Amino acid sequence: MTKEELVKLAIEAKSKGYQKYSNFKVGAALKTKDGQVILGSNIENAGYSCTICAERTAVFTAYIAGHREFESITIASDSDKYIPPCGTCRQVMMEICGPELEVIMVNKANDQKVMQLEELLPFSFNQEFLNK
Ligand code: THU
Repeated sequence: MTKEELVKLAIEAKSKGYQKYSNFKVGAALKTKDGQVILGSNIENAGYSCTICAERTAVFTAYIAGHREFESITIASDSDKYIPPCGTCRQVMMEICGPELEVIMVNKANDQKVMQLEELLPFSFNQEFLNK
């Protein structure tokens, strides 16, 4: 599975969501270490705070399907800019996918910007800080 194929899947995933209020379509293609790809898209709600981002739908869908090891997530939108994952998605990806996850951000021209999740969320809160 090449980066180009992941980009194509993330672009296709944009139209699988429900973007009734913002009309801002986001698609995500989460790749597991064994080469499978799970898609996500943002699902909005009239109660705006109930909206869930594309990245989290992909991560949660993958998790309940039994996937545990992840390599990258590719994120596409119709924006000229690279869309970085929101803070909540960064925290969720850190928990489920780990700091080494490759985050591939795609702009409208299909150029890619790649960062490691740890760069996007340094000094993150995790289970080590919980007193058990
Ligand atoms: N959104 C995502 O799905 N992922 C991001 O990385 C940023 C924002 C969604 C949430 C909402 O449905 C819309 O984009 C506008 O914020």
